[in-house]
Amino acid sequence: MRKFIGIMSAVCAIGFISFNMGVQAEDQNKGSESIKITAGSMAPVTLPHHLHQKVLNDCNLCHDLFPQTLGSINDLKSQQKLKKQQVMNSKCIQCHKTKKEAGEETGPTECAKCHVRI
Ligand code: HEC
Ligand code: HEC
Ligand code: HEC
Repeated sequence: MRKFIGIMSAVCAIGFISFNMGVQAEDQNKGSESIKITAGSMAPVTLPHHLHQKVLNDCNLCHDLFPQTLGSINDLKSQQKLKKQQVMNSKCIQCHKTKKEAGEETGPTECAKCHVRI
């Protein structure tokens, strides 16, 4: 039985790895250059999407939390599958802070630099 489970998990792992390699193909849909994310009563946030794709080179640094569709963050928030400010705290600010501490090129951590009233 142990051996069977071992083989099955190896099969699953291979399947998962090749699935991920497929997703990283050159012809994938990279979405919009820039994306506006509404943020409750706060001013909306503009994400330079293609810039992040270029400097980070890993879609799943963000998309492990929400799918590659417009409005997915707010949809998941209204279904209570994402908490308010979860993307902001665990993704945007977390990464910008870590890079700042490492002395690397980074993005804003101040409220008004992301939530820009226009
Ligand atoms: C820094 C975070 C981040 C990274 C990295 C990222 N995305 Fe996104 N992506 C977003 C956000 C935020 C949205 C919009 C979600 C929403 O509207 O709720 C989005 C939306 C999308 C959409 C749908 C929107 C549209 O314009 O059609 C696609 C397609 C997409 N991403 C593809 C990708 C691919 C492919 C990569 C990697 C090459 C990637 N993204 C990397 C944050 C990111
Ligand atoms: C790096 C960009 C960034 C910074 C800096 C930032 N935010 Fe956000 N904030 C976002 C994004 C993106 C969302 C929408 C996604 C989410 O709720 O996680 C958001 C959502 C919010 C929401 C709305 C939650 C809701 O659904 O009602 C509030 C309130 C908020 N932010 C307050 C703040 C405050 C206060 C600060 C400063 C301490 C701040 N933000 C700094 C990007 C940022
Ligand atoms: C895994 C790391 C990472 C995550 C997650 C991330 N960022 Fe960034 N962000 C960066 C880096 C690195 C830069 C600096 C890019 C450059 O100019 O080379 C940056 C720059 C920015 C800038 C400034 C762009 C400019 O033109 O100066 C904004 C605005 C920004 N990020 C918003 C966001 C928002 C909103 C989110 C969440 C939806 C987010 N970022 C998530 C790493 C990240």
